[in-house]
Amino acid sequence: MSNQTEIRRRRTFAIVSHPDAGKTTLTEKLLLFGGAIHVAGAVKSNKIKKGATSDFMEIERQRGISVATSVMGFEYDGYKVNILDTPGHQDFQEDTFRTLTAVDSVIIVIDAAKGVEPQTEKLMNVCRMRKTPVIVFINKLDRPTQDTFELLDDIERQLQISINPLSWPINNGPEFKGVYNIFNKSLNLFKANVQDIETGISFDDLNSSELEKHIGNDARKLREDLELVYGVFPPFDHDEYLAGNLAPVFFGSALYNFGIQELLDAFVKIAPWPRSVQTEERLIDPEDDKFSGFVFKIHANIDPNHRSRIAFVKVCSGKFIRNSMYKQVRTGKTFRISSPTAFMASQKEIIEDAYPGDIVGFPDNGSFIIGDTISEGEDIHFKGLPSFSPELFKFVENADPMKTKQLNKGVDQLMDEGVAQLFTSQFNGRKIIGTVGQLQFEVIQYRLEHEYNAKCRFEPMQMYKACWIQSDNPKSLAEFKNRKHQKMATDKRGRDVFMADSQFILDMAQSEFKDIRFHFTSEF
Ligand code: G4P
Repeated sequence: MSNQTEIRRRRTFAIVSHPDAGKTTLTEKLLLFGGAIHVAGAVKSNKIKKGATSDFMEIERQRGISVATSVMGFEYDGYKVNILDTPGHQDFQEDTFRTLTAVDSVIIVIDAAKGVEPQTEKLMNVCRMRKTPVIVFINKLDRPTQDTFELLDDIERQLQISINPLSWPINNGPEFKGVYNIFNKSLNLFKANVQDIETGISFDDLNSSELEKHIGNDARKLREDLELVYGVFPPFDHDEYLAGNLAPVFFGSALYNFGIQELLDAFVKIAPWPRSVQTEERLIDPEDDKFSGFVFKIHANIDPNHRSRIAFVKVCSGKFIRNSMYKQVRTGKTFRISSPTAFMASQKEIIEDAYPGDIVGFPDNGSFIIGDTISEGEDIHFKGLPSFSPELFKFVENADPMKTKQLNKGVDQLMDEGVAQLFTSQFNGRKIIGTVGQLQFEVIQYRLEHEYNAKCRFEPMQMYKACWIQSDNPKSLAEFKNRKHQKMATDKRGRDVFMADSQFILDMAQSEFKDIRFHFTSEF
């Protein structure tokens, strides 16, 4: 197959949701339908159990097996589907945001009874920012739900995206009868408590009395609903979906395998293959001859005796070939990978080559960091892996003076892995660790001790946000840094960051230094 054919049959995406909406169940069911797994439960064991917020051992357990489910690739109907797993736990949302930089589209799962929840909005914001095409799957129709029109209205308003239902539910909860598939004009009937594959009944004449035979009294309501749907929503515009402006909506019940087949069939048809990617220097076309890619995730082994890691590389252009010489642009070093891995059906295997859209695992002993660009020699830099201002900040102190070297190495490597962010005060050199949630501090302390034989202590500090600063006026920037010297820090890449104690302090700084822009992300 030519490169072009290989690229066009690839579908690389992530499933995201607010916790408990059904992301894990849907992932698993897609794998079942795709023939990648044969029993349910494979992904479930990777999930952080409920009530585990204070139990970081659970996180460790999860980390041990999550490498297998980081990427789940399978062949389906001539397509190569790659599902990228994202942690459901909100303390690890930055991990999720980074994974979203490596996908070509996203499926957002929404609980039909709860509608849009806070985490759904945050995830959608990231997709909107990157113009990632989004499909919405409304789940748990087997339970009582909100009114469908109201639900769609909420989704459109809260997610700030136009929507277009490609299927329509017939009743809900105990009365749920199934869905009418607007996309291919068929009726899918739901059988309560039967976890079985549904069959599509071709049905384009909704006025036929046959409809009553299938769904009884619900037929009238369905006709009325669909009349309204056809009146309100224009026909599905594929280009608008690909541009990230329009989200097609499907309904179903992941638990009962209902609506999954039609979701998967529509997904492979409409979801995009790998798109062009912007680097600082130029737009990279996936069909370019030369290989390029970037590291979006680093997974450290939990075996403390073997400090090996896997760097996950998204192939963006050309063809990756095992044992070829490639360049790590950041350091200028060249290297070859003799045992690159791919993840098919949850099995890790050594591969000979990979195409745009694929994720390749590079065995790594600490030379890669998140955001690294790999090329055949060209000095390009992929954009779009920003750091976001953490929510919690603490000073990290050495609790065992004999182990300073180990501590520094451990902190460095954990930060390269993206576990948290490190800032160094320009005033006194103290190290500050910033995280999204408390859980990360516990993970850091535990891993420093078990993997690096180092002990640390965290000291609380009052901090509002880390602000990356920018100005077109170098004089003003220098004056600001001088005046705020005590509050200036350097991030891991050497960029200047203003550490604002409070919203008030930030507002003051903003009104005083009008030509300085303060950003809550490292890329602007
Ligand atoms: P998440 O990854 O988004 O956090 O959600 P997950 O799939 O783990 O689903 C959360 C809960 O919702 C699970 O129940 C799951 O079985 C249930 N669920 C998922 N899809 C559906 C659906 O279509 N209908 C119904 N009724 N329930 C659904 P749990 O009791 O919390 O977990 P478990 O004991 O079943 O594992």
